[in-house]
Amino acid sequence: MKPIPALKFILFLACLGPLARLGLKALHDGLGANPIEVITHSTGTWTLVLLLATLSVTPLRRLTGWLGIIRFRRMLGLFAFFYACLHFLTYIWLDKFFDLHELVKDVYKRPFITAGFTGFILLIPLAVTSTRRMIARLGGRRWQSLHRLIYASAAAGVVHYIWLVKADVRVPLIFACVLGGLLAFRAAAWLAPRLRSRRGRRSPAPVSALRDSA
Ligand code: HEM
Repeated sequence: MKPIPALKFILFLACLGPLARLGLKALHDGLGANPIEVITHSTGTWTLVLLLATLSVTPLRRLTGWLGIIRFRRMLGLFAFFYACLHFLTYIWLDKFFDLHELVKDVYKRPFITAGFTGFILLIPLAVTSTRRMIARLGGRRWQSLHRLIYASAAAGVVHYIWLVKADVRVPLIFACVLGGLLAFRAAAWLAPRLRSRRGRRSPAPVSALRDSA
C-alpha cells in the first residue's frame, strides 16, 4: 500500500474512534446516569477538535514542508461536520424530540445555543461544496473564500463552549488559544509577502544599477 492511502485509512479509523467508543459504552451500559449528556459532550468536543485539526493542516504544511498533508484536510473537515451532525441530532432528537418550536425558542433565548447553531449552519455550505466537482464549478478563488467560513464556525463553536460552561472555563479557553494561534499564523502568512513586496518597492536601486543606467 502507498503511504498516503495507508495513512488516510488509519486517519479514517481514528476519526471513527470516538463514535465506536460511544457505541461500545452504550452496548455495555457504560454511558452513566445521563447518557444524553455524555453523548452531547463527546460529539461536541470532537466537532471542535476536528475543526481545529482541519485548520492546522495548512500551517503544518508550511512549517514542515510536507505537501502531502493537504490530502488529509478534506477528510478531517468532513468528519468535523459528521460529529457536528451527531451533536445536533442528539440535541434535537434525544433532548427536544424533534420539537422545532422548542429549537427556535432555544436559538432565540439561549446565547450558547445561538452560537452553536451558527457554527453548525456555517459548516453546511462547506460540506456541500467539498467535492471536486463543486471546486471546479465554483472556481478555486471563490471556493477558497467560501471555505474561510470554517474559521467563523470554529470561533462560534469556541464561544458556544465558553458560554455553556458554568464555572471552570479552562478547557474552552485552551481551545480559544489554539484557535487564536491558528488565526495569528494565517494573518502572518497573509501579511508577510505584502510587507516584503512593499519594502522591496521602497528600497533604493543598487549602485551598480544606477551606474549602468547613467
Ligand atoms: C460547530 C458547532 C458546534 C460545536 C463545535 C459544539 C461544541 C460543543 C462542545 C465542545 C460542548 C461541550 C462539551 C463538554 O462539555 O465536554 C458542547 C455542548 C453542547 N452543545 Fe454544542 N457545539 C456545536 C453546535 C451545537 C448545536 C447546533 C447545538 C444545538 C442546537 C448544540 C448544543 C449543545 C448542548 C445542549 C451542549 C451541552 C450543554 C450543557 O452541558 O449544558 N451545539 N458543544
